[in-house]
Amino acid sequence: MRYNGTVLVAGATGRTGRWVVRRLQHYGIDFRLFVRSGEKAVETFGPEIVDRLSVGSVENDAEVDAAVMNVDAVICALGGNVMDPKAPSPAAIDRDGVIRLADRSKKRGVSRFILISSLAVTKPDHPLNKYGNVLTMKLEGEDEVRRLFGTKDFGYTVLRPGGLVDESEPLMHKMIFDTGDRMETGRIDRSDVAEAAVEALWIPAAHNLTFELIQGEEARQDSFEKFYRDLAAG
Ligand SMILES: NC(=O)c1ccc[n+]([C@@H]2O[C@H](COP(=O)([O-])OP(=O)(O)OC[C@H]3O[C@@H](n4cnc5c(N)ncnc54)[C@H](OP(=O)(O)O)[C@@H]3O)[C@@H](O)[C@H]2O)c1
Repeated sequence: MRYNGTVLVAGATGRTGRWVVRRLQHYGIDFRLFVRSGEKAVETFGPEIVDRLSVGSVENDAEVDAAVMNVDAVICALGGNVMDPKAPSPAAIDRDGVIRLADRSKKRGVSRFILISSLAVTKPDHPLNKYGNVLTMKLEGEDEVRRLFGTKDFGYTVLRPGGLVDESEPLMHKMIFDTGDRMETGRIDRSDVAEAAVEALWIPAAHNLTFELIQGEEARQDSFEKFYRDLAAG
């Protein structure tokens, strides 16, 4: 097995989170789910996942603390709903929720934190920031993940995907990986974001890395390790 620990998926019933769960299942990796609704989780994954569930909100300290107990890694696919004025703000979810999850994880001995963030988080004038400064809030969440997990015996990977689509199964495209938030635009299947997040658990070049990712031309892949290695090699 490529990764021997137990992985908590935060936002497991989300559109990317579901793919993260499926890819963990594909690789035979032990996992837990942190979800707002147990019912939605059972509808999505079937009754067999009931024993793996932690139900709660990322806004609640005790619920987050319970979720991160006895896990080795966290993959965070959380995201607030910026289109719904009644939903909690990006400050509450994408910044404070991510920070809460990272902080509790570190205190409970989680050693790897993998965060799905977004392209353009370092661009304050980006049009998406008109929605509660969502990109800047994500950047502040990222910063805390790097601070907490970029230390000896811990590790992080921050993935910054372009526009998310649901068009193909994972590993059907070449990847374009970059650092420095230089890509202007691009899109990527959620299945591939999930694949890249799960592979980050065991690929050394993904350790303590923040990078952007979009998909390139259609071409079946065995894994994304090559793209991680090429990025590390410069
Ligand atoms: N849309 C894009 O083009 C785009 C581009 C780049 C990056 N991103 C980012 O990529 C990430 C994944 O995107 P996505 O489209 O897969 O997101 P999504 O489908 O909206 O899923 C978000 C997940 O977060 C969960 N969540 C929200 N508030 C929560 C709370 N208070 N406590 C616990 N869980 C909570 C949701 O729970 P429920 O399942 O209960 O709703 C859902 O599972 C997000 O951070 C998003 O901002 C998006």
